[in-house]
Amino acid sequence: MTSPGSQGVNTPGALPNSLPSVGKAAEAPLLTVDSLRIYYHSVLGEYKVVDGASLSVRPGEIFGLAGESGSGKSTLVDGVLRLIKPPGYVAGGQVLFRPGDSLNVTDNLPEMVDLLALAEGDLRRVRWKHMSYVPQGSMNALNPVMRVRDQLTEGILAHTTMSAGEANAKAREVLELVGLGRRVERLYPHELSGGMKQRAVIACAIALRPKLVMADEPTTALDVNAQRAILQLIHDLRRELGITVLFVSHEMGVHAELVDRMAIMYAGEVVEIADVESIYIRPLHPYTQGLIGSIPHATGERKRLVGIPGMAPSALTWPEGCRFHPRCSRAMDICRTSAPSLAEVQPGRLVSCHLCQPPAHPGNGTGARYQGQAASSGEGARRDA
Ligand SMILES: Nc1ncnc2c1ncn2[C@@H]1O[C@H](COP(=O)(O)OP(=O)(O)OP(=O)(O)O)[C@@H](O)[C@H]1O
Ligand code: SF4
Ligand SMILES: [Mg+2]
Repeated sequence: MTSPGSQGVNTPGALPNSLPSVGKAAEAPLLTVDSLRIYYHSVLGEYKVVDGASLSVRPGEIFGLAGESGSGKSTLVDGVLRLIKPPGYVAGGQVLFRPGDSLNVTDNLPEMVDLLALAEGDLRRVRWKHMSYVPQGSMNALNPVMRVRDQLTEGILAHTTMSAGEANAKAREVLELVGLGRRVERLYPHELSGGMKQRAVIACAIALRPKLVMADEPTTALDVNAQRAILQLIHDLRRELGITVLFVSHEMGVHAELVDRMAIMYAGEVVEIADVESIYIRPLHPYTQGLIGSIPHATGERKRLVGIPGMAPSALTWPEGCRFHPRCSRAMDICRTSAPSLAEVQPGRLVSCHLCQPPAHPGNGTGARYQGQAASSGEGARRDA
């Protein structure tokens, strides 16, 4: 586990009053996902794959997003970048991004942008230059007939006004930065190991020095040594370049090694957010407790691993009340009828569970349950982070 990073933002936040900052997050978030809903239309109805998810990522941190396969992690990240293709669509919510002082003045964008409302041309300027993405499985999507350096150069040329020579030099510099030296730059993707391909993909993502990199399962399908090396690389890039990282993985053990804070997703919602130590040492949501209970430990007392009983529900018909109640050993009557809200139960700690009622401090942000209108739907309780 690493200590939280803190890269300053020059201008304090201008977030709407309805988006409270949480705990010690006095610094305005770099990215705020508020009640995001992404649905897929089908003849059977709407698959509510992401359904009211909220989180916020602070400048300079490595923020983890975890949850079982199918919980909606990749869909959320795709939604942030507006990469959802029909029959998928954004059904509601807000995604605020603060490019801040990294902005090139020629981009002529405001200090904070609502990504879901941004014009396509402005969105293209934000993507890659200010916010970039390592998509799930992208190391296998490198162009097989182009040398690694040429692919990188092409990407840099597409997003900047650099000359071919400058872009080529930049590509070399970035490959060096991710540990792929001169020998590798002339190779084709099939000549690279899995770990080297992943480094090449990360090089593409950081080439333009974005403020935020969203990396979706960058260590999945790598052997243990390559996995460790990629985690170390992300850690080093954050330290050396000050890049903020949204790190997505379904492997809880990987989060423990890298992230500062994390969110747990279940059935299209975020159900718990806390610093990584709290999540591992004292998880509060029964689903998080199940995830932690199913991690094998190499050392210490031998304990029987406890899995989470039952199957994840279908996004076509989420269970009434708390979506986790059919699998929750602590479910109460209220859980079957009333959906809990994500609320701050301790400073900086948010949980969506009836067992964790926040202390009532009316009129005081800390400890109070966040309520109000969902960002664009006008319905339901707010689930802010
Ligand atoms: N066109 C579609 N119609 C209906 N459901 C879809 C469609 N595309 C994706 N889904 C569903 O969205 C759900 C969430 O997928 P997503 O890839 O976001 O999950 P994930 O949490 O990233 O999982 P993993 O850990 O396996 O990467 C999956 O159950 C998937 O079946
Ligand atoms: S709200 Fe109820 S069913 Fe849901 S996680 Fe908490 S105790 Fe379990
Ligand atoms: Mg995924």
